[in-house]
Amino acid sequence: MPTVVIIGAQWGDEGKGKIVDFLTEKCDYVVRFQGGCNAGHTVVVGDEKYILHLIPSGILHKNKKCIIGNGVVLDPGGLLKEIETLKNKGIEIDNNLYIAKHCHLIMPYHIAIEEQSEKKKKIGTTKKGIGPCYTDKIARNGVRMIDLLYPEILKNKIQANLEVINFLLKNLYNAESLNAEDIFNQYMNYGDKLKKYIADTDILINEAIDSGKNVLFEGAQGSLLDIDHGTYPYVTSSNTVAGGACTGAGVSPIKINSIIGVVKAYTTRVGGGPFPTEIKDELGEYIRQKGGEYGATTGRPRRCGWLDLVGLRHSVRVNGFTGLVITKLDILDGIDKLKICVGYKYGSRILEEFPKELEILENCTPVYEELPGWKESTRGIKNYENLPDNAKKYLQLIEDSLKIKIQIISTGQKRDEIIVKESPL
Ligand code: GDP
Ligand code: IMO
Ligand code: MG
Repeated sequence: MPTVVIIGAQWGDEGKGKIVDFLTEKCDYVVRFQGGCNAGHTVVVGDEKYILHLIPSGILHKNKKCIIGNGVVLDPGGLLKEIETLKNKGIEIDNNLYIAKHCHLIMPYHIAIEEQSEKKKKIGTTKKGIGPCYTDKIARNGVRMIDLLYPEILKNKIQANLEVINFLLKNLYNAESLNAEDIFNQYMNYGDKLKKYIADTDILINEAIDSGKNVLFEGAQGSLLDIDHGTYPYVTSSNTVAGGACTGAGVSPIKINSIIGVVKAYTTRVGGGPFPTEIKDELGEYIRQKGGEYGATTGRPRRCGWLDLVGLRHSVRVNGFTGLVITKLDILDGIDKLKICVGYKYGSRILEEFPKELEILENCTPVYEELPGWKESTRGIKNYENLPDNAKKYLQLIEDSLKIKIQIISTGQKRDEIIVKESPL
């Protein structure tokens, strides 16, 4: 099975980075295909903690090719910082990183516009310029990685875009204008530093697949944050579901062998938007503290709640998961009674499917199945048989309801704190 797509099944931060890092051992290539530095993928190797934003989480292994695909929106300044941080920790980058020519670039005016629009219409974004950059991409005004190699084209695009942006900044938002010349010089400088990584990544990836290499596709964000299938407008601006791997890397759907959904053993969400199973009392705070549920990119506290099978069923459908990974099981150790949401109650109706209407999502109440917790620590358990019986029952309920096999269970932050029931590679 040479191609595996790793997807967040909830609202992000499911532990995709840890799983990608773990599976990279058996891979040759790791590809990011959407999102940008709104992502924060934490990987712990030994005593060292790494937070990857744009660079695929496979980079921590030696000699693995890491690709930033065309579907990613890339902040060159952010990427250079990330490269420097990793290099300072002894990670080899220059021989292993490739960036698609068609990656759209996040420009200072994207961040400036988002800063202002978030004041008026609060989504609770990461303020990394993601939405405005994808807006320009779809409006066909975007600046792409390859433009950094063509100064005239770059200059003209920046000037044309700033005419509109500066009008908005001045007249709509009463904010400071930006200078085209400054941005041009800054981006020419970025181009000088990044040009060695620019490549025809679609060709690289397809050649790798055709020659039987193992290729991992690393999703960012989560399926419920998908621009089409998530809780719109409280979503990110890309297709975070499995289909995004094909468009965002230039790979045919028939070349994808398996799609793994990463599910946190409970649910978290950062930013605004409906969250039916959110726990608003001290138990929510307890989980936040124990699970270290603070944004890896923004440091914001993550909202915490019970596992939601209604949302997950939707996620299973729109992704076509072939297997599941459950992470952070250890965080539930010691909780007396656990709840899993099996339906939503709205008025007199019980809903089993994730509603499309925001109004319903915001006003429904979860229907829970209660399970007894377990007292034993599951931290670091590597063998399924050694899990407490009640933990096995918790996992079994997920497997039975979603009708998808749980292939991997993560029991801690570290690489080897993991149970592999059936390896996807
Ligand atoms: P991602 O964005 O999906 O990669 O997830 P994040 O890195 O933002 O958040 C997941 C957090 O949980 C990180 O701090 C991981 O190190 C940590 N983590 C991942 N798996 C486990 C696990 O099984 N147990 C515990 N305790 N922590 C985990
Ligand atoms: P990883 O890859 C969790 C959320 C933001 C906000 C919404 C839109 O680490 O799982 P954006 O800046 O993308 O326009 O914000 O999406 N969000 C994430 N939440 N994990 C992420 O990434 C996220 N990336 C964006 O909090 O609600
Ligand atoms: Mg994250």
